[in-house]
Amino acid sequence: MFETLKAQPADKILALMQMFRDDPRTDKIDLGVGVYRNADGITPVMRAVKAAEHRLWETQDTKAYTGLLGDPAYADAMIGLILGDAVPRAAIAAAATPGGTGACRQAFEMIRMANPSARVFVSDPTWPNHISILNYLGIEAVPYRYFDSETRGVDFDGMISDLKKAAPGDVVLLHGCCHNPTGANLNPVQWQEVIAVLNATGAVPMIDIAYQGFGDGLEADAAGTRTVAAGVPECLIAASCSKNFGVYRERTGLLMAIAADTGRQGLNQGTLAFLNRQNYSFPPDHGARVVTTILNDADLRADWAAELEDVRLSMLGLRRQLADELQRLAGSDRFAFIGDHRGMFSRLGASPALVEKLRQDHGIYMVGDSRLNIAGLNAKTVPILADAIIRAGV
Ligand code: LMR
Repeated sequence: MFETLKAQPADKILALMQMFRDDPRTDKIDLGVGVYRNADGITPVMRAVKAAEHRLWETQDTKAYTGLLGDPAYADAMIGLILGDAVPRAAIAAAATPGGTGACRQAFEMIRMANPSARVFVSDPTWPNHISILNYLGIEAVPYRYFDSETRGVDFDGMISDLKKAAPGDVVLLHGCCHNPTGANLNPVQWQEVIAVLNATGAVPMIDIAYQGFGDGLEADAAGTRTVAAGVPECLIAASCSKNFGVYRERTGLLMAIAADTGRQGLNQGTLAFLNRQNYSFPPDHGARVVTTILNDADLRADWAAELEDVRLSMLGLRRQLADELQRLAGSDRFAFIGDHRGMFSRLGASPALVEKLRQDHGIYMVGDSRLNIAGLNAKTVPILADAIIRAGV
């Protein structure tokens, strides 16, 4: 039977991760996969996570199943973190999922179940796994213009004119903040315009929010998501705790489905429970329980938010350092966009050939579309990267 299998395409980000591991050079620099690393190159367990795990170890007296949707306290805590009071709680169905990828996967399955001919509009570019999962599920992905490769900002006019082509029952996938892979984000006025187009076309938004707290702060990064959720009848939100709680391998995510009226919430809730049961039954609990413990304890929450803010500010500092260094070396401000982008990533705008040259000649690893992970840098490697970028002729 297995002889009929065909080789599947490798995930570009994960393949790069392996190439980096296999590279014997000691001065190599990993700017590939989206994992936060501190100045020593370590992805630390956050203080509040350690404390919450310690508390769980002491107090948890069973590992029996939770519910199909996970612990309701986790959903409540996460809904508060992401949405505040933007949407009535009674309209929201929510399921714990294995990470943000699990949330996206379940959302796409729910979309297909509700409307088998739905198309999902995706930003060009978007996180490659969005497209990969959509293809796998046989859902048509329709790219909308997003990144202006001249300004390295958002091509907002292009985006709006493409979104106007969506039909009722189509879905528009948006990045809540810290756009992956470009780092270019919508401003509050632009969010409002997107809502107007969604309401005019009848398309349903799906927001992927995986980097809350990495851009302009926990509240500011949730603002777009809250405005959309409050401004449209129905909405899907896929959230990840991998990055902002640093619990990558625990697979901690949440999918929310917001109904047009509270009477439909139960059906959505039942659908999410069914989809969890079909795909993996009960979602992972450990990461979710750690997150709940932190969010529901004032001291742990304050400590987590403070550490997250330090992470955010360190990435902003590296952005500024890199933009300044490039300005000095290039004698122009053509790299100023790096200081304007937000989140973990920036798209440099280099050709795949130049990205390959940076890897071969300098041991600098970035994704083929020239996405670089700012958090892979430190004060010492920024000048090395800047020098290599200029020398390579980016
Ligand atoms: C990334 O974009 O690098 C991260 O979201 C990790 C992943 O799973 O691709």
